[in-house]
Amino acid sequence: MLISARRMLQQALRVSGRSAFPLVKWMEKWVEGATQGGTTKGQAVKKLKDMPGPSLPSFAWDLFAKRGLSRLHKLQLEGLQRYGPMWKASFGPILTVHVADPALIEQVLRQEGQHPMRSNLSSWKDYRKLRGHHYGLLTSEGEEWQEVRSLLGKHMLRPKAVEAYDETLNSVVSDLISKLRLRRSSQGLVTDITTEFYRFGLEGISSVLFESRIGCLDEVVPEETEHFIQAINTMFVMTLQTMTMPSWLKHLFPKQWNIFCQCWDFMFDFAKGHIDQRLTAEAEKVARGEKVEGRYLTYFLSQTGLPMKTVYSNVTELLLAGVDTISGTMSWSLYELSRHPEVQTLLRDEVLSVMGDRRIPLAADVARMPLLKATVKEVLRLYPVIPANARVITDRDIEVGGYEIPKNTLITLCHYATSRDPAVFQNPDEFQPHRWLKKDSTHHPYASLPFGVGKRGCIGRRIAELELYLALSRILLEFDVKPDPEGISVKPMTRTLLVPENVISLQFIER
Ligand code: HEM
Repeated sequence: MLISARRMLQQALRVSGRSAFPLVKWMEKWVEGATQGGTTKGQAVKKLKDMPGPSLPSFAWDLFAKRGLSRLHKLQLEGLQRYGPMWKASFGPILTVHVADPALIEQVLRQEGQHPMRSNLSSWKDYRKLRGHHYGLLTSEGEEWQEVRSLLGKHMLRPKAVEAYDETLNSVVSDLISKLRLRRSSQGLVTDITTEFYRFGLEGISSVLFESRIGCLDEVVPEETEHFIQAINTMFVMTLQTMTMPSWLKHLFPKQWNIFCQCWDFMFDFAKGHIDQRLTAEAEKVARGEKVEGRYLTYFLSQTGLPMKTVYSNVTELLLAGVDTISGTMSWSLYELSRHPEVQTLLRDEVLSVMGDRRIPLAADVARMPLLKATVKEVLRLYPVIPANARVITDRDIEVGGYEIPKNTLITLCHYATSRDPAVFQNPDEFQPHRWLKKDSTHHPYASLPFGVGKRGCIGRRIAELELYLALSRILLEFDVKPDPEGISVKPMTRTLLVPENVISLQFIER
């Protein structure tokens, strides 16, 4: 109830304008204070059975009959409207509590403990167990996760370590620009830019992992590269289908599960092939008495004394994590900029003012481009690659929004809903990068969390941001980006990740 009071106050703030601002701010603080730490002062803590939510048949109907799996992000907003900021949904033995309010998401994440767990029902883990693979950073838990996280963190989270990748990434961006030129029609149209950006994403993360190029942006793309990208796509579709499948159902309907495993087999083989090739070349150099100066992640990982199986699984998961995330964000960024030429012009002016006569931005340059950063933030607010994240607290019951959540409950964090909630962001469906530059912006810090937060937050965030900034700034220096004259407006859909529902094609007009 207090949460809805806070939402009403936020609405009131919008209606009444700034004069009411200090009073409303104070009242908000008071209401927040009353719900702090999950304890609703003076009110009895409620149990899960008291929490609203759809019945099993209605939830199953939404999911399967109404193509709900691809509309899961929309179902978050419908759930928020129907049940308020917390609701529960069960499917067979799986019960999940949905949380769709920034302050409540903060309450969950502040209680996540030493070794946060994202999800306990992962078919990704089942596959690794079946094949005897080790876990990577996405799938490992506890001390095992902590060890690799600390090792990788040194090379992926420290700003100086990440800045050092700018030249490597810039050479990939140069190839992307050449590829866009090559793919253009006589009118400058590049069809299906997302496919091109998948290849860019894979080449970018490979260059950081192996410090060598694997040819994804060559004129003729190697077959195994296309196969790898296809395997990721199919694996994500199958993830949603296999996630909710109890193991006895996997035996009864083996098709989905088998396809899912084949995709992972190919991804593991692809990563292992590249790692072995790179490390063998290095060993040969050492044997010839040549100096080896590895500055790439696979090299660092292989020097830590971790078993090679752990290196293979981590590199596989890093490769996977760097493809769709970059591709989706690049596609949506240029899609929105093409539809907002005034923002595109302002952004290009910003890039030009920092660059002067130079044409290739470096990490130090993009650090001075606030509108560029605001644009990426806004794109990730509108299209969070991971529309729903999750946490499982395994060691104790916790209290959130006045409810007791028993340990081991799957808690779904509805990031898409909070990012698109009019009570949180004004005109939530509009692309307005400048909202991030306003000093007095009032949204809650947990309202848009595209990279997650805390100990288990995205470890690739700094690399991803650098890659996006370098690519977007350079594209704007080279081209005017315009919509496809015959294009339609494109909506997102869920495929575990949030992806464009239709092909995005854009014009890249030479400047
Ligand atoms: C726009 C780009 C990206 C977005 C929006 C994104 C988003 C996320 C999110 C939401 C999480 C879960 C965080 C949490 O549970 O709190 C995550 C985890 C992770 N991401 Fe990213 N990511 C991006 C790019 C990348 C890249 C390029 C890499 C690899 C270099 C990467 C590697 C990872 C890994 C390994 C994890 C698991 C971390 C852990 O469990 O300790 N991500 N990412």
